[in-house]
Amino acid sequence: MNDRSKKTNQTVTLTDNASGKTYDFPVMSGSVGPDVIDIRTLYADTGYFTYDPGFTSTASCESTITYIDGDEGILLYRGYAIEDLAMHSDYMDVCYLLLFGELPNKEQKAKFEHDVTYHTMLHEQVNQFYRGFRRDSHPMAVMCGVVGALSAFYHDSLDINDPWHRTVASYRMIAKIPTIAAQAYKYALGQPFIYPRNELGYSENFLHMLFATPAEEYKISPTLAKAMDRILILHADHEQNASTSTVRLSGSSGANPFACIAAGIASLWGPAHGGANEAVLNMLDQIGDKKNIPEFVKKAKDKDDPFRLMGFGHRVYKNFDPRARVMQQTCHEVLDELGMTDDPLLELAMELEKIALEDEYFVERKLYPNVDFYSGIIFKAMGIPTSMFTVLFAVARTVGWIAQWNEMVEDPSQKIGRPRQLFTGATRRDYVALGKRK
Ligand code: CMC
Repeated sequence: MNDRSKKTNQTVTLTDNASGKTYDFPVMSGSVGPDVIDIRTLYADTGYFTYDPGFTSTASCESTITYIDGDEGILLYRGYAIEDLAMHSDYMDVCYLLLFGELPNKEQKAKFEHDVTYHTMLHEQVNQFYRGFRRDSHPMAVMCGVVGALSAFYHDSLDINDPWHRTVASYRMIAKIPTIAAQAYKYALGQPFIYPRNELGYSENFLHMLFATPAEEYKISPTLAKAMDRILILHADHEQNASTSTVRLSGSSGANPFACIAAGIASLWGPAHGGANEAVLNMLDQIGDKKNIPEFVKKAKDKDDPFRLMGFGHRVYKNFDPRARVMQQTCHEVLDELGMTDDPLLELAMELEKIALEDEYFVERKLYPNVDFYSGIIFKAMGIPTSMFTVLFAVARTVGWIAQWNEMVEDPSQKIGRPRQLFTGATRRDYVALGKRK
């Protein structure tokens, strides 16, 4: 434990009914949120492990970065409400905040933007690396590979015990991830890579690298750049979710930062996590028409059918997802700007949202539209193909992963992550030679 958390005077007593023995465990308090029972000596004291698949009741670390109150629908980055940051700040502000704990002043912001911008280009040989992928590779597969490969190119930022190396690695990843993502897209299209333009803002530059071609000028819409910036802010961090925990767990062995972020990208890819925004659009395509909604809602409610309404529900938010509120508004702004308010797919999405919000099954289980429900729709309207949706999530989340990874490396109580198990497999048995096996 480091000195941010407090050991309270309170204890929790565990009684082992088999032996009649009792054990006291200390209770620790954070600055807000539920207290935790410190069970680090549980196994040594009692001989028991805890069993908590999915970590539904387990705090895996101490953190000062992001706080979520799922029942109240609250999300704070370093104490600031996500709604305030999304409406009044920009992504570079939020990156600085997540990394360093405070919003930057003007000078700090200018220096940070300069330092990050300085790293936007990729080593030219990384550009060659793309050619090893099939043209029809999923861009998330390309992201895992190329981000992992950065560790083979930037040897001067691999020493995790050196704070300067960590800073350079952090800036490199924040700067290069949009370039890598845009190039994954261009590679799939067969278009030439568009190099970053450092006079543009972070989100503008990203749109430029995605949509410009050498053949004609690409005009960046301020509304779309603002929407992209907001999406990046909303997805920048989300405390100890699957991909962040993956980054922390991989990093806990001392692995290099680029490899850890590649591991986070792999975890994010799954449809229950970052893959959900892509799954939303695939689901809307599958539903096809408003008249089919009741049939799909019925399937989602059927326990014998694995189908779920993508973009609904959240492990932590059992009230409205606060990011979804901002995203809903942004969604309407983007659709207005693009003159797409009567797009049939979007009408279908809005109808589905309405029906699900009124349906007893969804209301009872507090299954509200989550951030991915709206982000998928916005990306679609912007002309971004569905296979790129999770990539955009990865671009946004990179700073959160890095902030969490840095926090872990700097935490004096940090240990290699090593969960235990409840073993239910075969116990020791005699080896059977190949010829004697049934
Ligand atoms: N459609 C239909 N039923 C659902 C859904 C859904 N989308 N989500 C949960 N349920 C039901 C589930 O069947 C269960 O019902 P019952 O109590 O009768 O058995 C109940 O609601 C609780 O579900 P759970 O699976 O125990 O909840 P969880 O916290 O483990 O799952 C979730 C959270 C996000 C994985 C899940 O809601 C889901 O699969 N949603 C669709 C995928 C999605 O949109 N994911 C994006 C999450 S937001 C992005 C991020 O932060 O990564």
